[in-house]
Amino acid sequence: MNNKARIAGCCLAALGVLGLAACSESKVDEEKTAELIQPVARVELAGAGAATEASGAAATPKSAEQIVQQVCGACHNTGAAGAPKTGDKAAWAPRVAQGKDAMYTSALNGKNVMPARGGNPSLTDDEVKSAVDYLLAQVK
Ligand code: HEC
Repeated sequence: MNNKARIAGCCLAALGVLGLAACSESKVDEEKTAELIQPVARVELAGAGAATEASGAAATPKSAEQIVQQVCGACHNTGAAGAPKTGDKAAWAPRVAQGKDAMYTSALNGKNVMPARGGNPSLTDDEVKSAVDYLLAQVK
């Protein structure tokens, strides 16, 4: 802040309860406070960066939602190839009735047009199952 602005600020404050002297004192305090908290603020920023990196690393195994959006969604979000659409309760009801294990088996091994593991063999069993859980959660 330049001096003119500071003086203007002080004059405004002086119109209030505070005298001009009190105003300039509080200015100094503000500046000191800013100086004092600066290193803390820096540490906090650095900490936030580290936390972001850590959570990024933890998210490396794909989340169920990511798998569904990136792999299963190609058919299930659009209904392509006659796939039961994500969130379409009527389309899923007869399948849900077979039980979850049957869903897992179909997703892992494929069923008719539905390719095994949604056509992505790099998905682990757990990832495929989590994707099935995700799809089923949308039609609960
Ligand atoms: C290439 C298109 C396609 C992709 C990609 C795909 N699906 Fe499917 N999916 C289908 C079709 C078509 C059906 C219906 C199969 C049938 O009943 O004939 C189906 C059915 C299913 C069913 C019901 C199976 C049953 O027994 O009724 C589940 C569960 C399922 N898919 C899960 C997934 C998951 C999880 C993924 C991603 C890992 C995925 N699908 C990716 C096309 C696809």
